Amino acid sequence: MKVNLNVNGVICTSDVEPRTTLLDTLRDDFLLTGTHAGCEHGVCGACTVLLDGEPVRSCLVFSVQADGYDITTIEGVATAPGEMSVIQDAFCETHGMQCGYCTPGMILTAHALLERTHDVSREDIVEAISGNICRCTGYGQIIEAVEFAADRLKKSNVLRGNKAAQTGSAEGHDASEKGVLEAAADASGKGSK
Ligand code: FES
Ligand code: FES
Repeated sequence: MKVNLNVNGVICTSDVEPRTTLLDTLRDDFLLTGTHAGCEHGVCGACTVLLDGEPVRSCLVFSVQADGYDITTIEGVATAPGEMSVIQDAFCETHGMQCGYCTPGMILTAHALLERTHDVSREDIVEAISGNICRCTGYGQIIEAVEFAADRLKKSNVLRGNKAAQTGSAEGHDASEKGVLEAAADASGKGSK
């Protein structure tokens, strides 16, 4: 079956079996290998992507179900190749990753949380990432990273939900709509701590 998936602002087409998961289509057909396969049973959250802005486990979504939806993968959260989003930067800053296997899922989960509000408590963050397993048990720094990103976004004074025009390129999968988190990165300057 032919599916058209809007991945990171780029329409990507693939011919898939009805049983093909979104996880496999992203990794195998579109070579977006930042979405990690962990348990492939919906338990670990390593495969998390955003479907119309909401975090979902791509191992539990069939590609045909995602037809026509906007999908954001870890490759699409930064403003441009070589750049980092505020949250990615915060993970680096606070050592929020160890082996990095859970990190894309953690970042996308945090991204969805901080698109809703920058005013998050530690409890909100813990609850939001409770479905994401880190085998390196680095939860302390991960929570710290999301707190750090939330604080930076709050100080950046950028309105939430202020999505700019899509900047998708027909040639790659790395361009995405420029959401508030990326706008904040521009506003605050990636290097300013
Ligand atoms: S790989 Fe999808 S939840 Fe573990
Ligand atoms: S950093 Fe290794 S699994 Fe989380």
